[in-house]
Amino acid sequence: MPVKRPPGPRDGLFGVRLVGRIKADPLAFYAAVHREFGDATFMRFGPYPEYVFFHPDAVREALAEKARQFVRFQPPIRVLRQWNGDGLLMTEGEVWLRHRRIIQPAFHPSRFPGYAGLMVQAAREHLDRLAGEVEFEREMTDLTMDVATRTLFGADLGAGRAELAEPLKVLNAVAMREFMIPFAVPRWWPGQGPKWRAVRTLDGMVRRVIADRRATGEDRGDLLSILLRATDEEGDGKGLTDEQARDHTVNLFLAGHDTAAAGMTWIGWALAAHPEVAARAAAEVDGVLGQRDPAFADLAKLKYVERVVKEALRHRPPAIGVFGRQALADVEVGGWTIPAGTVVRVFSWVTHHDPRWFPDPEKFDPDRFAPGRAEAIPPGAYFPFGMGPRVCIGNAFAMTEMTLLTAMLLRRFTLTLAPGQGEPVPKAGMSLRPAGGLRLMLTGRTRSFDRITG
Ligand code: HEM
Repeated sequence: MPVKRPPGPRDGLFGVRLVGRIKADPLAFYAAVHREFGDATFMRFGPYPEYVFFHPDAVREALAEKARQFVRFQPPIRVLRQWNGDGLLMTEGEVWLRHRRIIQPAFHPSRFPGYAGLMVQAAREHLDRLAGEVEFEREMTDLTMDVATRTLFGADLGAGRAELAEPLKVLNAVAMREFMIPFAVPRWWPGQGPKWRAVRTLDGMVRRVIADRRATGEDRGDLLSILLRATDEEGDGKGLTDEQARDHTVNLFLAGHDTAAAGMTWIGWALAAHPEVAARAAAEVDGVLGQRDPAFADLAKLKYVERVVKEALRHRPPAIGVFGRQALADVEVGGWTIPAGTVVRVFSWVTHHDPRWFPDPEKFDPDRFAPGRAEAIPPGAYFPFGMGPRVCIGNAFAMTEMTLLTAMLLRRFTLTLAPGQGEPVPKAGMSLRPAGGLRLMLTGRTRSFDRITG
């Protein structure tokens, strides 16, 4: 008996037309599909049948409740594996579980005061040299890369950081291109010189740092210190090989810095475009911090700033969805039977803009997350970090980083849109960024904070 399927757009030329529409504008495409076909849709891309779900219940089912009945859809993972090796995002099953257990201590709450100190130090050096009109997106990309290298590798990288910017840009562009190619690009395929040069640069840097650290064996308070010492206590009691540590380090670095850069860029825009939100957040920062920079212990008191961060992640989620999932066996999601081998997708971009869960969804309203209102958001409606067992391992790390950096921005500056800067148009790439960047004016609020630290 044929399987009953939800409605969806016609594939046109085995999905070629659909791929064309997605490539041109994935945000508009999936929003239109939701408007036209509702909470559950079906489409076909060549050999791959896909269900796309927009309802929070289905998101929860696919990512959390029935997570064990899925693996990540492999084609995009194969692209990323070329430079992420067997990093956490890349693996499945027992291998993934063992590595997640080994890495988890690097994100234990006891490590966070140390990370927060490194984050604040990096932010102070960057923000204290900013003034006037700035390319805010570029500044935040540089700053979050600095945060990622200091928190992952400590001071090891130093000036080498600048050499990484270009290879990272190359690899992001390669990933976006290869995601759309329906076959794995073989190694001999022409024109791949820049990709492999970028991989070699990244690889060389990470291997050097690991070798240095193995030689000294000290705990410098960064993530790498933990990765190199951690063992699988619940399993075989062993730690990571150098090769595995290399893969995880690259993966954590790449997964962590681009998304946080995008998040900070949208926070900057939100503060500049909503002076009433910025004024309230700045008043909170002044009350909690006075004339000093924040420390980890202050986060619990920066409640409104945290809401600003959460709302930015709803309004402009840096990851517009999670990686596709492929059903291991027949499984029911959203009331539909998904046959084994079928791909399931969910998009925070669409669900975060559904007026049923977020009334007036285009409005930037941090108080959606205030006590008394936040409870009305159904589980599965808000998932900037994914959910379930494969939820972002760096979510608390990223929230810490973005809340600290936002407080530091607010303490120093009043943010406004630079002359000629209109409402930025979101563009989906590796992370969701404003098309054409974002220019902001940073006007100093007070000079007295200059070198006072917390
Ligand atoms: C605003 C910042 C961030 C956002 C929006 C974000 C988003 C996400 C999302 C949506 C997933 C789930 C993907 C899926 O289920 O297919 C994920 C996974 C992951 N993220 Fe993040 N992330 C952020 C920051 C970070 C940071 C700072 C790190 C590391 C320091 C990190 C490391 C990872 C890793 C390793 C995974 C894979 C986890 C696994 O499969 O077990 N992320 N992230």
